[in-house]
Amino acid sequence: MTVKAKAVRHLITMDDLTNDEIIMILEEAKSFKEVLGRDIKKVPALRGKTVVLLFFEASTRTKISFELAAKRLSADVVNFSASTSSLKKSESLKDTVRTLEAMAADVFVMRHSYPGSAQLVAKYIKGAVLNGGDGAHSHPTQALLDMYTIYEKKGGFKGLKVAIIGDIKHSRVVRSNIEGLTRLGAEVVLCGPSTLLPRYIEKFNVSVTYNVEEAITDADVVMGLRIQFERQKQGLLPTILEYAQFFQINRERLSLAKPDVLLMHPGPINRGVEIESEVADSVYSVIDEQVTNGVAVRMSLLYFLVGGKDE
Ligand code: CP
Repeated sequence: MTVKAKAVRHLITMDDLTNDEIIMILEEAKSFKEVLGRDIKKVPALRGKTVVLLFFEASTRTKISFELAAKRLSADVVNFSASTSSLKKSESLKDTVRTLEAMAADVFVMRHSYPGSAQLVAKYIKGAVLNGGDGAHSHPTQALLDMYTIYEKKGGFKGLKVAIIGDIKHSRVVRSNIEGLTRLGAEVVLCGPSTLLPRYIEKFNVSVTYNVEEAITDADVVMGLRIQFERQKQGLLPTILEYAQFFQINRERLSLAKPDVLLMHPGPINRGVEIESEVADSVYSVIDEQVTNGVAVRMSLLYFLVGGKDE
């Protein structure tokens, strides 16, 4: 019997996965979460594979959880440091990734400030590219771990009201979550100041309100988004104090949601800005669980995309 190499699959946006594949990855993540609870948190699924972490933008959660996920699957992991690489000697992105591939890298996990950068790298190399965030475009693995957290707690997505509040304009997380959640039947309501809501966003099968109480009322999930000061070139907010006054998720506002509401945030949080600090640490908060689930979900994704062989 001939054994063919598995066809290369990338994850650039949620469009790269079918609905069935999303559910399969979430289901498989349950088993990987169980592995992570063992004394020996390691399985041989990616033995012999090399995963390169290519982060051109800051990250704590995505980078470290991909590193842990790959190591728990027994892959070799290389951390590429942009600031000490030959990029500093004007080497191009294309030559950089082709150089890494020439050293037998199989998987490239990439974060870059340029929207479309992961798609571009996928054209240059034969290995798999997993997008860890490209500008304000897409962050599919964050959406998968957010969806896993909801799936684990609520058992599905159909009919759930998910209110997403904050800096929608600059958020790659919201774009990927809209794609995944609406395709699986959730109702997504977006809320924020008009300057932080992109025009025509309603076309993406979501509703929009500027009234935070309306957004939160009867919600099953309330997700805060960070105000991305580093991506704001013009003054889009009068002051942070006014943002908090009108849009902050605080105890009083959260009490309008369903009693078993899940409070989520992809992190990092500006405490006291998008979420009241004590609410971020309250019983409704699953923010730390999102981080924990990120490792299991990324193990599941790596296994699904690059583990094993097709016959
Ligand atoms: N949520 C997220 O992408 O966090 P990091 O920037 O820390 O990776």
